[in-house]
Amino acid sequence: MNDPDRPSAPSAPSAPSDAGQAVPEFATRDPNSPAFWDERFERGFTPWDPAGAPAAFQTFAARHTNEAVLIPGCGSAWEALLLAQRGQQVRAIDFSPAAIATARERLGEHGAVVEQADFFTYEPPFTPGWIYERAFFCALPPARWRDYAQRMAALLSAGGLLAGFWFLGATPKGPPFGIDRPELDALLSPNFELIEDEAVADSIPVFAGRERWLTWRRRGSGIA
Ligand SMILES: C[S@@+](CC[C@H](N)C(=O)[O-])C[C@H]1O[C@@H](n2cnc3c(N)ncnc32)[C@H](O)[C@@H]1O
Repeated sequence: MNDPDRPSAPSAPSAPSDAGQAVPEFATRDPNSPAFWDERFERGFTPWDPAGAPAAFQTFAARHTNEAVLIPGCGSAWEALLLAQRGQQVRAIDFSPAAIATARERLGEHGAVVEQADFFTYEPPFTPGWIYERAFFCALPPARWRDYAQRMAALLSAGGLLAGFWFLGATPKGPPFGIDRPELDALLSPNFELIEDEAVADSIPVFAGRERWLTWRRRGSGIA
């Protein structure tokens, strides 16, 4: 995952990724572009993929079964499959056509809950009770983090939840782009109150030791 700042010379040798997997040479370097993610899905290089719904997600989802769920930057959409199978209202979006193709294949008969869309302009067909975050925030270059916080605040009503995994500790380059905890708190606190903060036991290697499960509750209806 951590490759966009590497030199693009096609003859350069592969370097190990954070997961220890050799990083292929890629033509696309801008994670703001769907083509960046398309290339990685098409070549099967997805070291961020959890290969199943993470335990903390399952625990949280079991406590929030009656609310509509939005999953932005869904990638393979393991979590959407779990929610759709039990009949919960869910939309999983991704702006990469290759990610959407992967997710639709995984979801099979539930594939209609997956939509190709850009998070920053998407209007869900419902007001989400909660929005799930995993490896989406850290896929965004830091210049987009304020836009993320504002869009999350706009999508949720007062009391709505933004819940999931955050990759903590600033990184010199990415993705994944880690964030220092005080910076994350400053970014989200104007519109959200932190109500859960837990260690994660089943991190995959790319995120091991640096992610926490955080649940943020939307404050009043205005956007600060
Ligand atoms: C590192 S992957 C994580 C995928 C998934 N959340 C997971 O945990 O496996 C980041 C995903 O975010 C998607 N993405 C990045 N920017 C996006 C945007 N503006 N709108 C929608 N999807 C976006 C990418 O296409 C990619 O599939």
